[in-house]
Amino acid sequence: MCGIVGYVGPQNALDVVLEGLRRLEYRGYDSAGVAVLAGGGQATAKKAGKLANLEKDLADSPLPESTIGIGHTRWATHGGPTDRNAHPHVSADGRVAVIHNGIIENFAALRAECEAAGVEFTSETDTEVAAHLLARVYDETPPGPGRLAEAMRTVSRRLEGAFTLVASHADEPDTLVASRRNSPLVVGVGEAADGTPEYFLGSDVAAFIAHTREARELGQDQVVEIDRHRGLTVTDFAGTAVEPHAYTVDWDAEAAEKGGYDWFMLKEIAEQPRAVADTLLGRIGQGGELVLDEVRLSDQDLRDIDKVFVVACGTAYHAGLIAKYAIEHWTRIPVEVEVASEFRYRDPVLDRSTLVVVISQSGETMDTLMALRHAKEQKARVLAICNANGSTIPRESDAVLYTHAGPEVAVASTKGFLTQLIACYLVGLFLAQVRGIKYADEVATIVDDLRRLPEAVAEVLTRMEPVRELGRSLAGAGTILFLGRHVAFPVALEGALKLKELAYIHAEGFAAGELKHGPIALIDQGTPVVVVVPSPRARESVHGKVVSNIQEVRARGARTIVIAEEGDEDVVPYADHVIRVPRTPTLMAPVVTTVPLQVLACEIADTRGYDVDQPRNLAKSVTVE
Ligand code: G6P
Repeated sequence: MCGIVGYVGPQNALDVVLEGLRRLEYRGYDSAGVAVLAGGGQATAKKAGKLANLEKDLADSPLPESTIGIGHTRWATHGGPTDRNAHPHVSADGRVAVIHNGIIENFAALRAECEAAGVEFTSETDTEVAAHLLARVYDETPPGPGRLAEAMRTVSRRLEGAFTLVASHADEPDTLVASRRNSPLVVGVGEAADGTPEYFLGSDVAAFIAHTREARELGQDQVVEIDRHRGLTVTDFAGTAVEPHAYTVDWDAEAAEKGGYDWFMLKEIAEQPRAVADTLLGRIGQGGELVLDEVRLSDQDLRDIDKVFVVACGTAYHAGLIAKYAIEHWTRIPVEVEVASEFRYRDPVLDRSTLVVVISQSGETMDTLMALRHAKEQKARVLAICNANGSTIPRESDAVLYTHAGPEVAVASTKGFLTQLIACYLVGLFLAQVRGIKYADEVATIVDDLRRLPEAVAEVLTRMEPVRELGRSLAGAGTILFLGRHVAFPVALEGALKLKELAYIHAEGFAAGELKHGPIALIDQGTPVVVVVPSPRARESVHGKVVSNIQEVRARGARTIVIAEEGDEDVVPYADHVIRVPRTPTLMAPVVTTVPLQVLACEIADTRGYDVDQPRNLAKSVTVE
């Protein structure tokens, strides 16, 4: 949420910063702004609306050339998305420029303090207080190298809440400083064409991937100073030096481009066979054991587990709901699944023998991060399933399984979701094996099933033209309902979420067994109802019951759109449209049945003329509560 970019180096800062903002725009896109240090002062430009609005202004009146700059793309929290509230915010004396991601919770008290000292505020944001405070504290800090960083530490100690702050000061033309607590920030270290070192700051590595793949992770409650001459210095808020963790980003700029597709979402949908394959790659060792990326848990820890919680938000939560079916079936360990925003504020019963699986594509979702900390305080073991290397959630977890989906740019998650499912299956299987519930040959059989999934997803993708056509015919619908049962129930929820997110059409997902307890009253003549049919091999004739549900809604006037596996002829008499998916093992069916729902939502949104990649009011990564 909110994209942050900073640059210190020999190139023209404005160009580098704008390019970084373009790549980060998916994080928030209701206003944008930049500031460069030039001519002994701050030169800024900011504009409400998408980044293109700001770029247009800058094309008409460019900022001066500079080699140090910051930029911000905003998702509004305090104060509406106006020019005035856009970042950067500049201190009353005009010397300090600040950009911010997060929420400063004690801003009202700090604002009152600044106002009492005569400062006049020009925006409704919480951020502006940081600019004024930093300017005042800077003036009180003894001169000398590191003065701005020292002022930033002093200010950071006074702030409550979540923040990544990046600041420059007109009196320090060679320095950028940044501070982070509960919000993301990474540093890129590169070399310009002329061999001069250059440094980047970004909310995530996409901000600087076109320039360097060498990154430094910034930890919780740390301040980084980038000085053109002295280089990079990281300390905690008390000023104690810290060695940042260095890593190389394993994808390149090309992976973050649209590659000929109209939307990132379409590209990411198309990448799913590869993403699924990459997430499986090298995961299962000779003995059938799961290869985790980072493990701070022993086999004994895993054997002691007597309960699993899966905690996540949004689409990742739906992956968690599917994980429950697999983990309970394969391990016989009870699994609870909960949205992070609920989990963190109640008193879940956890102890050392509880495994909490947190799922987050970005690794930065605030509620999921707080749920993780809530779990750790109670001594539970935490395993993260995450896509973004170097993000906060994996760093704070006891074990990490990365989904190798590559960068996901479209706000609505697609390949992120499918790879989360794969990771969940792997976790379930691993637990079953470590605990001796499944024999090695049983594990191997399921692994073989998993290995066939990339091909199955590829096959689904070849059949999407009728789905797109159907999508175009549904673009005028007022409501679309989604039904599913067993593992198809979370798929129905995900289908409805995708449609809400992208097409702004009222959509609801229901457990098909609940149909007669209310949802059936919503059916009117012509109401589209998408039914995700579980495998005919699912237990207790669940399949037959869902076929009855299709008849029931159709008898009441529904237009039935049925997603069913190849060869399932039972659905044909009651379906207005049948979307076929390849036959897959019962528990793995969501990997294929979700794909048509992604395509459907994308096509409906596109037909309605909406921005598929950046839907209104949403952000890719929700780093505030
Ligand atoms: C936002 C995104 C969703 C995503 C959710 C959780 O709402 O728009 O696509 O599913 O956050 O994000 P995470 O990064 O934690 O998976």
